[in-house]
Amino acid sequence: MRVKIGNQIKEFRTVWMESHIVKMIDQPKLPHRFEIYSSFDHKQTAEAIRTMIVRGAPAIGATAGFGMAQACMEAPVTGFDDYVRKASETLKNTRPTAYNLFYAIDRVLKSIEKGISVKEKREIAIKEANSIADEDVEKCKNIGVYGSKLIKDGDSVLTHCNAGALATVDYGTALAPMRFAHYGGKKIFVFVDETRPRCQGARLTAWEMLQEGIDHAVIVDNAAGHYMRNGEIDICIVGSDRTTAKGDVANKIGTYEKAVIAKENKIPFYVALPTTTIDMSIKYGKDIPIEERDEEEVTHMWGFSQGELKKIRIVPKGSHVKNPAFDVTPAKYVTGLITEKGIIKPNEIKRLFD
Ligand code: MRU
Repeated sequence: MRVKIGNQIKEFRTVWMESHIVKMIDQPKLPHRFEIYSSFDHKQTAEAIRTMIVRGAPAIGATAGFGMAQACMEAPVTGFDDYVRKASETLKNTRPTAYNLFYAIDRVLKSIEKGISVKEKREIAIKEANSIADEDVEKCKNIGVYGSKLIKDGDSVLTHCNAGALATVDYGTALAPMRFAHYGGKKIFVFVDETRPRCQGARLTAWEMLQEGIDHAVIVDNAAGHYMRNGEIDICIVGSDRTTAKGDVANKIGTYEKAVIAKENKIPFYVALPTTTIDMSIKYGKDIPIEERDEEEVTHMWGFSQGELKKIRIVPKGSHVKNPAFDVTPAKYVTGLITEKGIIKPNEIKRLFD
């Protein structure tokens, strides 16, 4: 992704590995500071996923793949398999909803079965982790190319949370079609839901839009219905953290109500996702584990003040809090899925795996 640093524009991926160090854009610091976080072992990488230094299902998957490669490099020759299996559990226990996490960890685990010596297993793990990241970039590029055809010159697009380059290794899922429409010379306007409680829309999507020079406005989460009813939104595109075999979509909390309002107002509602986000072992959304996050995300707000990240309390002490990170949008509200293999109806998912 393009990042403006001073007068220069530099290209970054969200996450990559240099020798045994996993490097990632430090997302809690955005949009106020652009810093790279370094993780030196698989436990630190797991913690970075849990605390959302890196977030977004495909980016989590790529990071976990690198975490597995770190584990293989750290593991002693005697007891290698045990160490790596334990590391896979540590990494899996970080974010329960994001399917790419499980996909990437299992893929690295399976790949090292082909190695005979520990040296060979280590080499295979590093190669596999890099392939997962590289493939994610290619998949998101294709999502961008296919999805951009849905956006007409002059369209206004609504998106929720951040399903941009920062949520993937590069380009994004929901934001990739917007990027490619913009690169193709179409004039578009993006309504960016702020996305409480962590404000990934207000902080991260808005930042990505600014980096790309895409015209946009941040709106509070409760405003989307107002703009849809007033005919100001032509198309909605969101991402997904896990999509089932029948096309039910788990995405950031608040997605479901946007989809229902879109249908009520006859506005197409698309979900952009790589096939690595599809969990074919689950048929319906009711079986997707929904992550419940810390109360503090709701009771407090974070922001930069005088060069420092500060948190302030907004909910009275003593009030209870519920904080589900995701909700499920039933397939009947989804106009189509924009994947790296093309755009399909939610009931055509099986075709993607034939
Ligand atoms: O909790 P997060 O920030 O990891 O959740 C990310 C999302 O829910 C995004 O909206 C997204 O669509 C999934 S990642 C492309």
